[in-house]
Amino acid sequence: MKYTLRIYRKKRSSDERYWQDFIYESTDENETVANALTKIDVKWECSCMQEKCGACAMIINNTPSLACGYKLSRCKNGICKLEPLRKFPVVCDLIVDRSILHENLKTMKIWLRQDADFEKDKDSLYRELAYESSECIQCGLCLEVCPNFYLGGDFFGASTVPLTLRLLSESDRENFIENAKLYVKHEFEGCGKSFACKAICPRHIDTERMMVKLNRVAVWKRRK
Ligand code: SF4
Ligand code: FES
Repeated sequence: MKYTLRIYRKKRSSDERYWQDFIYESTDENETVANALTKIDVKWECSCMQEKCGACAMIINNTPSLACGYKLSRCKNGICKLEPLRKFPVVCDLIVDRSILHENLKTMKIWLRQDADFEKDKDSLYRELAYESSECIQCGLCLEVCPNFYLGGDFFGASTVPLTLRLLSESDRENFIENAKLYVKHEFEGCGKSFACKAICPRHIDTERMMVKLNRVAVWKRRK
């Protein structure tokens, strides 16, 4: 089967954007967009090629997707339109600068400030959702579809929600209050509850359920 990889390009040294077509032939019905990209001279990012690192996030046929999880056979009439994510600055071709994801995690103070005690958390809300939250690969697809997230805004979107779950287990009162205030400012207050994030997440993380639990703890102060 012959495919047209139609790519929205940009050189590193210029702001000019342009479309370029590449003809690509494949006999494997399971071949992915990521695999095809390894065979042509276009800049993009990848690492795991197994939908586990988030590096290859881009817009494929108008839908934010992971290139390594998108089969070429899904492309209607063999047309595969590839664009970089739109909410982040484009570096070149399909590469965008997603450093804001890490900056937001730092602002939210997502790190352990005391020894982890997994036994203590055995029956807690945190324990219940901890495994699911660890599935987040920081791909940024949830931010791409969020109607309320924009670069530089106070609202951080769903990508910080899974990791903010640690708030539920914070037993130090001062730390808890600080985390709760950050959650209210950067998550609760800006969310319009469209939950487009939940529908697009390639790891199927239930961000709505997580936010309901976090609201209960951080906003309504109910810890049990
Ligand atoms: S919540 Fe899902 S879509 Fe958002 S960054 Fe994490 S894995 Fe990606
Ligand atoms: S290369 Fe890791 S998610 Fe696609």
